[in-house]
Amino acid sequence: MLSIQHVKKQYNRTQALKGVSLHIPIGICFGLVGPNGAGKTTLMKILANVIQDFEGNIQYEKVNQKYGYVPQEICVELTLTALDNLYFFGKLYGLKGKA
Ligand SMILES: Nc1ncnc2c1ncn2[C@@H]1O[C@H](COP(=O)(O)OP(=O)(O)OP(=O)(O)O)[C@@H](O)[C@H]1O
Ligand SMILES: [Mg+2]
Repeated sequence: MLSIQHVKKQYNRTQALKGVSLHIPIGICFGLVGPNGAGKTTLMKILANVIQDFEGNIQYEKVNQKYGYVPQEICVELTLTALDNLYFFGKLYGLKGKA
């Protein structure tokens, strides 16, 4: 179960999300669609914990704590191995050591 309650996100002068609420039960394949700039990627980044400064509340039922995120456009560095890509992007996001 994923419950998104009144989620708002402001980027400087742009209000990307103006109070999104969704309730997605377990076992449901949910499609999030909308025009360019509607805020889909912003919401996915919030769910993936890439964006942490937002208003509202997100609740997961922890049946499976693994979370996968497949972006629309692949952005791996093809000259690196899969593992080195993970190290590279991890470092960009400030991860260190075992993390
Ligand atoms: N890092 C950012 N800084 C400032 N504004 C941003 C940033 N990221 C997104 N925005 C703005 O927030 C709004 C929502 O963008 P977002 O990328 O979440 O929409 P989207 O639904 O994923 O669009 P698309 O269909 O084009 O992928 C847009 O007005 C966009 O210009
Ligand atoms: Mg997008």
